[in-house]
Amino acid sequence: MGSKPVIGTSLCKWTVSYFALAVVWLLLAEVLMVAGFGFPHDDIGGPDTLVIVHMVCIGWLSMVLCGALFQFVPVLVAKPLYAERWTLPALALLTLGLIVLLAGFLALGGHFDGPRWLLPVGAGLLMAGFTLVVANLGMTLWSGRPLPEPARFVAIGLACICVTAAFGGMFSLVLSGTAVGALWPDLLVSGVPIHAIAGLGGWLTFTAMGVSYRLLAMFMLAPDGDARLGRLARRGGAAALAVTFVGGVLALWKATGLNLVLLLAGAAALLSLAAYGRDVLGLYRIRKRRALELNTRMSVLALGSLVAVAILGAAFAVTGSLQSHAGALAFLVAVGWLSGLVLANLYKIVPFLTWLETYGPVMGRAPTPRVQDLVAKRRASKWFGLFFAGTWGATLLLLLDAALGFRIAVAVVTLATLGLAEEFVRARRLADVAEPLRLPAGAIVPHLLVSRN
Ligand code: HEM
Repeated sequence: MGSKPVIGTSLCKWTVSYFALAVVWLLLAEVLMVAGFGFPHDDIGGPDTLVIVHMVCIGWLSMVLCGALFQFVPVLVAKPLYAERWTLPALALLTLGLIVLLAGFLALGGHFDGPRWLLPVGAGLLMAGFTLVVANLGMTLWSGRPLPEPARFVAIGLACICVTAAFGGMFSLVLSGTAVGALWPDLLVSGVPIHAIAGLGGWLTFTAMGVSYRLLAMFMLAPDGDARLGRLARRGGAAALAVTFVGGVLALWKATGLNLVLLLAGAAALLSLAAYGRDVLGLYRIRKRRALELNTRMSVLALGSLVAVAILGAAFAVTGSLQSHAGALAFLVAVGWLSGLVLANLYKIVPFLTWLETYGPVMGRAPTPRVQDLVAKRRASKWFGLFFAGTWGATLLLLLDAALGFRIAVAVVTLATLGLAEEFVRARRLADVAEPLRLPAGAIVPHLLVSRN
């Protein structure tokens, strides 16, 4: 299929495969939570919770992000992806690595009698997978220097996944009983916050901020944001991450604890988020597309979750109850903010890529539907409503220590996710496109799981 004039780049063949696998991991994690596996029934740092955390963080969020970056980093820097042929091996390594890592956690939790090498081997496969991803995207960014602002966010995010994976690899050596544990007894205690902040804050949030800058401007037909605010958001975030890493490693060295480091990093992160929030609000004000599309409105709800995390986090820190509420806040970050933002964007990106693949080649030669004709907005808004209501309810119930209520609320979130997954499948199948326009001569229904490029 020919080149795609709308975004000036070709489709990455395996992006939709990353998306599909990612949704499956999310559903699996949700079902486990509904079944009462892991936190809050199990300890927040216990092996069962680690299974769910990594299903969500690697299987769902990192997988979607990798797929999206393969498609959008070339758009950000107006250069082709460095090596399209690396994307499938990376997908295989990440998937296999995650499965082995999860098996390692399950063995650690006593669910079966597994060998001790499961965790380090799983970590090794994951590190190999992430290395392929970072090298591929890093070379693409390198070819596009000087980098535009959103691409700089992505570059910082890529550095952070390296830090996350390096710490994860060391933890898995410690937990499997190798020598590292004796060398650095405090590695797990002080290292876990660094690993989690680098993963959730640096890799997932920072990269999502960079990409969504571009996507929000593109989908709302707004000119680019305020350059000064964008720079402030990036520098504040980079400072927060740098303080966490350098201060964290120093604290690890001297075993002095992390509190001061986290306080400073938290202040810089708040500055970054405030600048980002203002900039995005500015984009809304100057947008040309007055009626906001569903994906944009849902991104606002996701952003609302992030604002709630910042406010609640600050309030709990002041009252000294941050530790006891960390689980609820982590849930709101992972599901309300990151998952909500990803689902809102998938609702736009899946039909968009499907449209390009199906109608791009025949555009101008036959009447074609619009991108929004590939989706059914009313049905999807119902699922999104359920998703956010369930997520906020679940967070509240975690704060109130109501474990059973939490599971019921997550069941609602699971139902909503299933509904949205069906909407994505229908978009790929062109199921909602009215008949005369659905398949003009020369157009072919796309495959569900790969794109023709
Ligand atoms: C190479 C990939 C990774 C490996 C090998 C790995 C491994 C681990 C291990 C062994 C722990 C447990 C530490 C302990 O005993 O307390 C852990 C905790 C954690 N990891 Fe990862 N991880 C990886 C990637 C990620 C990513 C990409 C994210 C987020 C985006 C992430 C988020 C977390 C979080 C939030 C925790 C703390 C969970 C809790 O205390 O309940 N990890 N990781």
